[in-house]
Amino acid sequence: MRIGHYSVSRLIKTDVLVIGSGGAGLRCAIELFDKNIDVTVVGKCKKGDAHTILARGGINAALGNMDPEDSWQLHAADTIKDGGEINDHKAVELLCKNAPKAISELAQWGTDFHKEKNGKISQRFFGAATFRRACFVGDCTGKAILETLIKQTNKRNIKIEEEVYIFALLKNKRKINGALGLEINTGNIIAYNCKILILGTGGHSRVFNRSSSRFWENNGDGIGLGFDVGAEFMDMEMFQFHPTGMVYPKEALGTLVTEAVRGEGGILTNKDGERFMIKYDKKRMELSARDIVARANFIEIEEGRGTKHDGVWLDITHRYKKDILKKLPVMYNQFKKLGKIDITKEKMEVAPTAHYSMGGLHINHENGKTSIPGLYAIGEVTSGVHGANRLGGNSLAEIIVFGKLTAQSLIREIKKMDNLVELDKKLINVKCTELENLSSTEGKDPIYIKEELQEMMWEHVGVIRDEKKMKKGIRLLELLKKEKLNTGLEVKMNKNLIAALNIKSMLIASEMILISALNRKESRGAHYRTDYPYKSSDWKKNIICVPKRNAIEIKFKSIPLVPKTISKLMNHKFEYNKKRHMLE
Ligand code: FUM
Repeated sequence: MRIGHYSVSRLIKTDVLVIGSGGAGLRCAIELFDKNIDVTVVGKCKKGDAHTILARGGINAALGNMDPEDSWQLHAADTIKDGGEINDHKAVELLCKNAPKAISELAQWGTDFHKEKNGKISQRFFGAATFRRACFVGDCTGKAILETLIKQTNKRNIKIEEEVYIFALLKNKRKINGALGLEINTGNIIAYNCKILILGTGGHSRVFNRSSSRFWENNGDGIGLGFDVGAEFMDMEMFQFHPTGMVYPKEALGTLVTEAVRGEGGILTNKDGERFMIKYDKKRMELSARDIVARANFIEIEEGRGTKHDGVWLDITHRYKKDILKKLPVMYNQFKKLGKIDITKEKMEVAPTAHYSMGGLHINHENGKTSIPGLYAIGEVTSGVHGANRLGGNSLAEIIVFGKLTAQSLIREIKKMDNLVELDKKLINVKCTELENLSSTEGKDPIYIKEELQEMMWEHVGVIRDEKKMKKGIRLLELLKKEKLNTGLEVKMNKNLIAALNIKSMLIASEMILISALNRKESRGAHYRTDYPYKSSDWKKNIICVPKRNAIEIKFKSIPLVPKTISKLMNHKFEYNKKRHMLE
């Protein structure tokens, strides 16, 4: 079939189509394959180059290897308490109970976690964790895990389609039954026909101009696809700013400086040499929750106590060089290469950077179902696990745990299903025509518009928010929506066309962030408003965004009481481990 200059060149039939070849997608595909389910994975990047590789400092599981008092219940209590108590409790329970199994499985498959002399997997401190709970491979834990998953998928010969950008989901008889992908290298269209479609497309941190992800990823692809078919979203106002991103040189702006630096004893100071965390969280200091440390860094800089390049200092020079090289090799090389800084001798300059989307598709975590039949989701594109503030180390745990659990719950369902429902040809035509219409030789450079949007979002709904800034943000967003984008007419390797597709999703994600943030009249977790600076019990609820004829309708979801076994630990009196801020 040929529509304008786009041709549907291939039709691929598969029982389950997983969109996204990061950790969540691969873990899910492995489980399906092992249970004899026909599965195909599609990724927009090359195999092994998904965003998961940027996850650095660790993966949480209450193994109790370093601190035997730890338990899954305490892991859950920490997650909910510093998640602003709006997490989905069931999801948290599943995460924390299953994380230890996920670690042993990864270790068995070959992930070379750092070990103690007794042979047990080491665990380091991460922010807001009562005990040392983050298992790690130096400071490249995500890369090590993704490599393990790639090896497992290769061993099984699981089908992974590389460099295909999915631009539309397809429905027939009110149920998702496929997708359309643009093969980036050829401009050809691939039509996928499936029984079940799983989005594992990652987050949307690139809607902000300083982000810890690379520019081509975390553009909210899954948000745009889900919105287009009417799926519900939750907690979109909850966006995590990581406290420590690079600020210098300019090209490195936003690049992640792992929390593991603080986990290994790193200290934050302002330009006057003051260890300022004492003002913000005297007890937990640099290992406070991410939202608190990010705000602290932001305020120090805003109030004029920042460094020359608008950062604060992060210092790990008091650790032995050999330990830094062993535990933080990526940070050592990153600063050496990008900033000409030797972190064993010099301090790092850091500031908040957009890092993680707590909000996303509203799903049932027991089975991954979205509000749309046939559409499932896993990983960062979903919402609920992390509430208003994610604990560092919980995202890697999430992708492995829910990748597997979602697959397991689908197995029974797929086996009961009839044959594939045929794709709706008319709908394919409509979607290809929409793509065709996006191609234009008039208007502004999409890359420029993308930057305008990112700047607006950072400025108007960033680390510190208020009504006036957000309302202006919405007005600016409306103007950006009207911009005509000059993509050119080329169909192959068209960077501008991909940017235009990104913008479509980014605008939707941005609008839901702005509207939800404006609605939530309080401060909670990562959502901080100077006009409503306190947490309010009236707002202990989730905000749901429902697409309605191209508009967004808001509804609310109440939150049940935290189960007693967990709530009693949320106000625990555990003494923080003495090693918390000390050298080993
Ligand atoms: O700082 C970090 O290494 C990030 C970890 C995470 O976001 O889980």
